[in-house]
Amino acid sequence: MEFNIALLRGDGIGPEIVDSAVAVLEKTAARFGHTFNFIPYLIGGSAIDKTGMPLPQETIDGCLASDSVLLGAVGGPKWDDLPGEKRPEKALLGIRSALGLFTNLRPAKLYPALRGASPLREDIVGDGFDLMIVRELTGGIYFGDRGYRQGKYGEEAYDTEAYSVTEIERIGRVAFETAMKRSRRHTSIDKANVLESSRLWRKTIHSLAEEYPGVEYNDMFVDNAAMQLVRNPQQFDVIVTSNMFGDILSDEASQITGSIGMLASASLGASTRGMYEPIHGSAPDIAGQNKANPIATILSAAMMLRYSFGLSEEADCIENAVDKVLEAGYRTADLLGGAEGTPLTCTEMTEKVLEAL
Ligand code: IPM
Ligand code: MG
Repeated sequence: MEFNIALLRGDGIGPEIVDSAVAVLEKTAARFGHTFNFIPYLIGGSAIDKTGMPLPQETIDGCLASDSVLLGAVGGPKWDDLPGEKRPEKALLGIRSALGLFTNLRPAKLYPALRGASPLREDIVGDGFDLMIVRELTGGIYFGDRGYRQGKYGEEAYDTEAYSVTEIERIGRVAFETAMKRSRRHTSIDKANVLESSRLWRKTIHSLAEEYPGVEYNDMFVDNAAMQLVRNPQQFDVIVTSNMFGDILSDEASQITGSIGMLASASLGASTRGMYEPIHGSAPDIAGQNKANPIATILSAAMMLRYSFGLSEEADCIENAVDKVLEAGYRTADLLGGAEGTPLTCTEMTEKVLEAL
C-alpha cells in the first residue's frame, strides 16, 4: 500500500527523533512491500525563523492533504519571549485544532526490561502496569476564552475552562470503546468537587456509562488521581480526562514507566488521518548532540501504522523490535538514570532497532 506522511520535524531534538522514526518506517515499508512518501513542512520555532509564523498555511494544507502526520517537538528558549499568539506551542494547538484531532491516546506501560528505571519502589511496581490515557485535545482551557482585564487588584490575566456535552460525549465514547477492547476498566478524572465544567463532565460520562454496562467504571478527582498513579498504578486501565488534566497526568504516567523518552501518542479525529508524536518536548538542553531517545517517536510511528493505516502486523513488528533492543540491555542516557553503562546515542539506538526489525 502507499501512504503520504507529512513530517513536522519542529525544533530542538525534533529533527533527530523524526529522522530515526523515518528510518524505521522506511525499513518496515521495504520489508512489507509498502511505499511511504515523506513530505516535510515547517512548524514551531523553525517556521517562525523562516516565515515569521509558527504555523504557515502551507503546513496546514499539507497536513490536510496527507494520510497522516508525524511530528517531533516544538519550542525552545529562543522563542520563549514571544507573545502567546506567536509562540511555537501555539502552532501545535493550531494544527491539532485544524485537523480536528479531539482524541489523544497516550499509552503508558512499564517494559519489564525497564523496571529498574522506574522511580517507583519494587513492591509498588509489582507485575508492572499498562494504562491508556485518553486525553481530550481540542477543548477546555487550552482553547477557551482568554485575555487581560482590570480586576480587583489591577491588571489580571484569565483563561477559561469550558466543555460542552457534545465534546465530553465524543471523547467519552472513544474511552469506553477503548476500554471494551482492553480490560474493560475505565476511570474518568475531573475536579467535580470544585469546577462546574467538571460537574458537567462527570454527569455526561455517567450517562454514557449506562450504554456500556460491560465496562467497570469509576470517577476520581484529579488530585487523588495524581497520588494514586504513584501509589498504585495497577488500579488503572483506561483513563479519560480533559485537555489540561491529561497533559499533566500523562507526564506523570510517563515518568513512572522509567522515562518520558518512551511515551508515544496518537491524536485522532473523525477520519483515519491522525497526528503522531512523542509526548515529550523539544529538550533544547540536549538538541543537536545526538543524545535523545528516539523510542517514543519510533513507537508513535508504530501507532500511525496501527491506527491510521490499519497495518497492525507492521506495527507489532516495530514494537517487538523495540522490546528486543530493551531486553538486550541497550539504553540511551535517559534510560540509564544513575546506572552503570555507556549510553547509546540517538543514531546508535536507531541502528539497534533497525537491526532488530
Ligand atoms: C504535550 C505538550 C503540549 C501540550 C505543549 C507543548 C503545548 O506538553 O503535547 O503534552 O500542552 O499539549
Ligand atoms: Mg505535555
